[in-house]
Amino acid sequence: MKNPISGFYKKSKQEKIDWLRKHYFQQDEDTLSVLASYWHSDAEVQALHDEFIENTVSNFFLPLGIAPNFKINDKLLAIPMAIEESSVVAAASNAAKFWLERGGFKTEVISSTKNGQIHISYFGNPHTLFDFFETYQSQLMASIEEIQKNMKARGGGLLSLSLIDSHKELEGYYQLHATFETLDAMGANFINSCLETIAECFENLAKHHPEFVKQGTFPFVEMSILSNYVPECLVRAEVSCELSKLEEAALSGEEFARRLVRAVQIAEVEPRRAVTHNKGIMNGVDAVVLATGNDFRAIEAGVHAYACKDGKYASLTHAEIKEGVFRFWIEIPLALGTVGGLTSLHPMVRFSLGLLGNPTARELMEITAVAGLAQNFAALRSLVTTGIQKGHMKMHLANILNQLGANDIQKEQATLYFENQTISVKAVEEFLNKHK
Ligand code: MEV
Repeated sequence: MKNPISGFYKKSKQEKIDWLRKHYFQQDEDTLSVLASYWHSDAEVQALHDEFIENTVSNFFLPLGIAPNFKINDKLLAIPMAIEESSVVAAASNAAKFWLERGGFKTEVISSTKNGQIHISYFGNPHTLFDFFETYQSQLMASIEEIQKNMKARGGGLLSLSLIDSHKELEGYYQLHATFETLDAMGANFINSCLETIAECFENLAKHHPEFVKQGTFPFVEMSILSNYVPECLVRAEVSCELSKLEEAALSGEEFARRLVRAVQIAEVEPRRAVTHNKGIMNGVDAVVLATGNDFRAIEAGVHAYACKDGKYASLTHAEIKEGVFRFWIEIPLALGTVGGLTSLHPMVRFSLGLLGNPTARELMEITAVAGLAQNFAALRSLVTTGIQKGHMKMHLANILNQLGANDIQKEQATLYFENQTISVKAVEEFLNKHK
């Protein structure tokens, strides 16, 4: 067993690598050299990355791809996507082109509020707590005046504060539920600072409240934190077209639409399918969230919770055929920011936001929802027609060829040969052995 280390964070980058060399790589310089080979050649850019997190030893690259031809509310956009999975950007681009010729995507932000809770334990008379809250509600809300001065001047800030009795779910459990508008900021820091300040004010007031003093039982703040469940920060994206314009390969528009609607219906009732269906949506969503410097873990957690809102995990997209028109849409909660956090710090994030015309948070919600819908359309289109492997394996072939060290001529030959052959690592290996 290796010895634990204390104070690792105090070591310089080189000392950290030396420690790895000694304890994990038995002086294996070849393996270790990859760390330095991924440092940025510009020391200033590297220093920036070093400071994003603790204990940085190198960078971990992801490709940044561009999916062009997205017509969103009659504006043409090229969407930046940071993702490692082959075929996602190609699929998004294909879907964008398909809908470009059929009117494009329409979007709407349904609501944009975020929320957080102060979680409280209290084992006294509930009426006393509710009376106390009623008396001090305005004072609690006013306690963050200083913190929210700027946000308020721009039209955002704390919108409401309510006391929720949750003691039936957990003995003695109450919450102060706060809702916020954070405009173009994702707002995590702002919300958490507000909550902690309100919580402090709450405890101070409670300590001296005569009724609590009389009964000898005081409410106690357990913790204060924003929620990543944001069903009130909701965006909708939609495509639609007449069935006659939906003809696909050998399929009539009616049949293609019927198959798409059926595929969505299956994901609406069967959680096993819904999870994979939504995973495909998140291929698009996460890629934009990452490229624009937003928190994909927060988005993932919130989106999947939303997929369970009706008591069972289900599809985030919906589809219907009505009066000769196919309609396909998504409703998805996306708490995104275009200011603060990484947005002005990370050079690639600055580039991505620039490419999108420096959108507001609401516009970014719309663009991201479109990327999710497009990705789902592309997946379903393959699934209900050729099957997913055809397109997937084509992209996969490129990866296998790289992995096996094929040269350019071999790559060209293999691409031709595997157009009508089943692709596997073994088959590609055999092909390369025959075509040295
Ligand atoms: C693969 O990353 C995503 C799909 O499995 C999504 C789906 O099945 O809908 C193709």
